[in-house]
Parts: sequence; C-alpha cells; structure tokens
Amino acid sequence: MFSNRIPNLLLNDDCALPLSGLGVYKISDFKDMKAAVQAALENGIRLFDTASFYKNEDLLGDALSESGVPRSELYLTTKIWNTAQRLGDIRGSVERSLDRLRTDYLDLYLIHWPVPGCFTQTWKKMEELKNEGLVRSIGVSNFSIRNLEALSLVSDVVPAVNQIECHPLNRQQELTDYCQSHGIAVQAYAPLARGSYCDRAILAQIGSHYEKTAAQVGLRWLVQRQISVIPKSTHPDRIRENAEIFDFALTEGEMSSIDLLDEGFHSASIPDDMIGFLNH
Ligand SMILES: NC(=O)c1ccc[n+]([C@@H]2O[C@H](COP(=O)([O-])OP(=O)(O)OC[C@H]3O[C@@H](n4cnc5c(N)ncnc54)[C@H](OP(=O)(O)O)[C@@H]3O)[C@@H](O)[C@H]2O)c1
Repeated sequence: MFSNRIPNLLLNDDCALPLSGLGVYKISDFKDMKAAVQAALENGIRLFDTASFYKNEDLLGDALSESGVPRSELYLTTKIWNTAQRLGDIRGSVERSLDRLRTDYLDLYLIHWPVPGCFTQTWKKMEELKNEGLVRSIGVSNFSIRNLEALSLVSDVVPAVNQIECHPLNRQQELTDYCQSHGIAVQAYAPLARGSYCDRAILAQIGSHYEKTAAQVGLRWLVQRQISVIPKSTHPDRIRENAEIFDFALTEGEMSSIDLLDEGFHSASIPDDMIGFLNH
C-alpha cells in the first residue's frame, strides 16, 4: 500500500486537508463501498467524504475498519443535514455520525447547506464540538459570499473549508477568490461535473501532452488552483485515474484555456427545502 503522497492544504486552524479524496455520495451497497475504499487506499487516498444525508456513513465506517488502516492515518469528513439544523440537534447529529463511522472524532464537520434562520446558531454549536475535540476542523458547504459574511457577524471562528460545486464548467472564481483571501480553503464537490466535461476535446487535447485523460486535466486544473477535490467513483480503474494528478503540471496558458470553459453549469441539484433561498 502507498504511503500518502497527496499534498495537503494548511487550514486556518493549523490542521492539514489532503488535496484529493474520495466522495462516496450514492454508494449504497457494502460491496461497492468496500471495493471503492480499498482502491482509494491503494492509490494513496486517505480523505473520505460522506454526509448523514447520504445514508452510507455506516458502510464507510465498516469498510474503513475492515481495511486495517489506523484511524490516525485517515481523514474523515461528514456533514450535518438541514433537518437536524432546524431541530437544533447538532450534538445528537454528530454523535450519531461518529457512531456510524466507528470513530470518536471527525477531521472535518460541515454545515451541508446554509439553512435560513438556522445556520448561524448551528455554527455556534459546531464551535463547541471543536472545543471539545469531537471534531478537528469545522466548515461549511454551499455557502455564498453573503452567507459567509453573515457568519462573520456572529462568530470570530472563520470556517476552515467551504465545500462547493466547482469544475471547469463552473469556475466559481469570485467565491473562490473571496474564500481564499479570507483564509477559507475551497473544496470542490462534483469536481468531474458528474462526467459532463469528460468528452470535451480541449481537455483531451491538453491531456494528450501528458498522457492524461480529460478527467485528470479537470481535476489537475482544480488542485493547481489550491482547491481540494473529492471525485466519486466505484470503479477501481477510475479511482486510480482520479488519484494520479500530482505527477504533471498545466502551463499558465493551459490553465487559462480551461478557464474559458466556464458556463456556470451546476451538475448537482439543490434540495427542495433550499430552493428559493440560494443566490448562486
Ligand atoms: N456538499 C454537497 O452539497 C455535495 C454535493 C454533491 C456531492 N458532494 C460530494 O462530492 C463528491 C463528488 O461529487 P459527485 O459524486 O456528485 O460527482 P463527481 O465526482 O463529479 O462525478 C461522479 C460521476 O463521475 C463518474 N466518474 C468518476 N470518475 C470518472 C472518470 N475518471 N471519468 C469519467 N467518469 C468518471 C462516476 O461514475 P462511476 O462511479 O460509475 O465511476 C460518477 O457517475 C460526492 O461523492 C460527495 O462526497 C457534496
């Protein structure tokens, strides 16, 4: 098994965030989870991204336990769902996640969505979880600049991470610039836009200079912008492909031509209870 050869980002709380991990959304079968986790570990991946909403924290916890890799070498992220925020059940939610993940701490706990009227109170409770050592870093997901500014009015604790949809078809430059200039690391979900750019000729052409695929070029473009990526796959060959993005570098010209693919495309859907509240 490889040792971790994936670079880290240093977070504003002095913890390290791997630049690449495995997302496990929609993996609902233990055999698939076990195979995906095994392939990820064999390719140096140590970061695993789940959420209580995905209903697979227990599958991930079991697969990681069976892998035999010590907990201290792993990086586990999960997220608090909207319902628990509305109920104010932050502590109960994290305790259930810890139980399902078979661990006594999380590396990163995120507010999954900025639920209006709730997210600032949720944040104050997450600060307590961090102070108690149940979670090492706290962050947010799907937060706009306006949401981040609202948080800054009630708390001096700046989110360590904002996990947002980001890929060559949706560059998120303004939000990324805002986050990075305020010490908030950006992590890209749907970094492959769920496969939507894998057939783009320009990406395949750039990749041909390095013997890389369009998917690898898209992921490389993200990590070269200091954005952590969590592509999902259940196929060991693709998990390996998605991990092999640290042995080449795109030129400035190539980065700029990929920038031009931005069309503000969203591949992930907005939950019903958040529609109308977001200013994407
Ligand atoms: N915070 C949030 O609100 C939020 C929202 C969405 C997702 N996420 C997180 O982000 C992770 C990744 O996002 P995502 O799963 O939505 O989308 P994604 O990673 O952009 O794309 C996954 C899709 O691409 C395919 N794929 C994987 N590697 C490929 C490759 N090398 N070439 C071509 N196709 C490839 C996968 O198919 P196969 O599995 O068949 O290979 C799957 O259908 C999730 O798993 C989850 O952990 C967070």
